[in-house]
Amino acid sequence: MITAEDMTKKKSSAAAMEMENRYGAHNYKPIPVVLERGEGVFVWDVEGKKYFDFLAGYSSLNQGHCHPAIIGTLREQSEKLTMTSRAFYNSVLGEYEKYITEYFGYDKVLPMNTGAEGVETALKLCRKWAYEKKGIQPDKAKIIVCEGNFHGRTIAAISLSSDPENRNNFGPFAPGFTIIPFNDIAALEKAITEPGTAGFLIEPIQAERGIVVPDPGYLARCKELCEKHGVLFIADEIQTGLCRTGRMLACDHEDVRPDILILGKALSGGTLPVSAVLADDEIMLCIRPGEHGSTYGGNPLACRVAMAALRVLKEENLSAKAEFLGDKLRNELSKIQSGMIETIRGKGLLNAIVIRPVNEKDAWALCLALKDNGLLAKPTHGNIIRLAPPLIISEAQLYECIDILKKTILKFS
Ligand SMILES: Cc1ncc(COP(=O)(O)O)c(C=O)c1O
Repeated sequence: MITAEDMTKKKSSAAAMEMENRYGAHNYKPIPVVLERGEGVFVWDVEGKKYFDFLAGYSSLNQGHCHPAIIGTLREQSEKLTMTSRAFYNSVLGEYEKYITEYFGYDKVLPMNTGAEGVETALKLCRKWAYEKKGIQPDKAKIIVCEGNFHGRTIAAISLSSDPENRNNFGPFAPGFTIIPFNDIAALEKAITEPGTAGFLIEPIQAERGIVVPDPGYLARCKELCEKHGVLFIADEIQTGLCRTGRMLACDHEDVRPDILILGKALSGGTLPVSAVLADDEIMLCIRPGEHGSTYGGNPLACRVAMAALRVLKEENLSAKAEFLGDKLRNELSKIQSGMIETIRGKGLLNAIVIRPVNEKDAWALCLALKDNGLLAKPTHGNIIRLAPPLIISEAQLYECIDILKKTILKFS
């Protein structure tokens, strides 16, 4: 048996995987590759093999691995001041708050760390607003959510989930959520009239479910209904936002302005857990000192990094790039003649291939073959492969990847 000491000395994929398996909780099933370095669209494993990263940290790496402007900022601020807690003011937080609120056009921001914390914050904010502004009876607030959602792993997020894998043996669950089918206006029309309805929480595209894109006009109609009934439209843009779908926010495709906007992932360009909840004063000021917060939320390192990450999105015109390259990717993939491909769908550079498994040849096996051919992707929900590279990918690089995908799929079929 290899000892832990041997493993730290011996740098090989097998040793690293064995160590994770031996000492880490088994809450993930990674593709068997051990990454050591990243730059732009590329990552390298411990043996030095180079891959295109087609997952991009579940869209945390829209700006690419180790973007020099983001890393430079991280390095500079990390030598100056990293953490203060909110017990004191710090010299960066106000500047960041001004920057991000002007960037997205909201009165206020509440800084958090992980995406799930951002979702929790939005839910709490919505409930507070419901009791204090809408006059809903104490403890009676309801928030409508969509079947097939993914909003994180906390108790609240799994309480409003419809996925048995997320929920099994984790109960009891938090009450106050009504689940309706996604992309079903009639269902929202009905649920929204229920007494106590305070908010409607939605991912503009259901990413974890397998990049499920609603019909055109759905989001705009949902927003109209929310306005009509005095219900807050809460957009979880943690995965879809920050240029991923070809607009700054996926809601921008339909000119929908969420009442509460949740951001995360690429808000730090893949360096730190940084999330944010944005809203106007009427909503945000319902939370007062001592009622909500987080030790690390709004730390100066995160604030500096987030400003740098947001700057890169605009300076490098990443939303236009995602839209242009996304169209090319779907167009080229749709030309592949293979019985294994059931559907290709997506928006911008948030895409999926739905695989029709043949014998042992399923999405997992295809991802292993793609890995061998130099492209990293991972299945979501069984036979759906998400294709979401960093948005800084060049057109030539994208065509190289399309070539790898084509050859691998054709060899497999
Ligand atoms: C739409 C959405 N919401 C929330 C989350 C949870 O974010 P985190 O894993 O940072 O808690 C995710 C993560 O994949 C997500 O895709």
